[in-house]
Amino acid sequence: MSMADSSLPAFWAVIPAAGVGSRMRADRPKQYLPIAGKTLLEHTFDCFLGHPRLLGLVVSLSNDDAYWPALLCAADNRIIRADGGAERATSVLNALMVLSEQGAAESDWVLVHDAARPNLHRVDLDRLLRASANDIVGGILAAPARDTLKRIGADGRIHATVDRSVIWQAFTPQMFRLGELQNCLADALAAGVAVTDEASAMEWAGYAPLLIEGRADNLKVTRPDDLEWLQRHWQNDRS
Ligand code: C5P
Repeated sequence: MSMADSSLPAFWAVIPAAGVGSRMRADRPKQYLPIAGKTLLEHTFDCFLGHPRLLGLVVSLSNDDAYWPALLCAADNRIIRADGGAERATSVLNALMVLSEQGAAESDWVLVHDAARPNLHRVDLDRLLRASANDIVGGILAAPARDTLKRIGADGRIHATVDRSVIWQAFTPQMFRLGELQNCLADALAAGVAVTDEASAMEWAGYAPLLIEGRADNLKVTRPDDLEWLQRHWQNDRS
């Protein structure tokens, strides 16, 4: 392990992968779409598995997932399985429970990362780890809004221009302490709050997570043209 690596905190990775990704309009859940010789999910694992400070990785999978057993990584003993839930937050909570059962401490750092976000660069991962390591709450990768933002009305017309200087796009990984994240997610779900990422559960509980600027190309594959864009991007990067 290099000097730089030992300055980073140890961490667990949680990958919720129990969604169907209906906006991709594909024949399978988007995390199983092939690109550059592997599924999106395997590329996402690769962002973490070689990291010298990784303690372990948990993936949440749907009970009726027919694609997982066919992957080589299904036999990788560094990857721990958890059950998926009806919502992303439930899938994450199940993974956190498995981590506790594996002996993880309440104060351990957990990084939650989307299954279909395979272009996370090591420099961004390490920046998040370094910036959040000594923070009381934790933080997330994010990027300032680039375009002028408009608020739309029910009539399909612009009702206002929003001040973009205070708007950032939230990415993953999102890094929090295991115990606090578990409590906040469970409480927010019990209160019926819409929890679309881990930070929103922490915010609901009164915490103010750090925003750490990351690369704009840490994209979540959501629509068919995202996959085409990524394919071109990787071809250019690797040629
Ligand atoms: O649908 P979206 O792209 O926002 O999902 C974000 C992440 O949450 C994906 O990795 C998806 O597989 C996961 N998810 C999950 N369980 C659900 C819904 C989504 O693990 N019930």
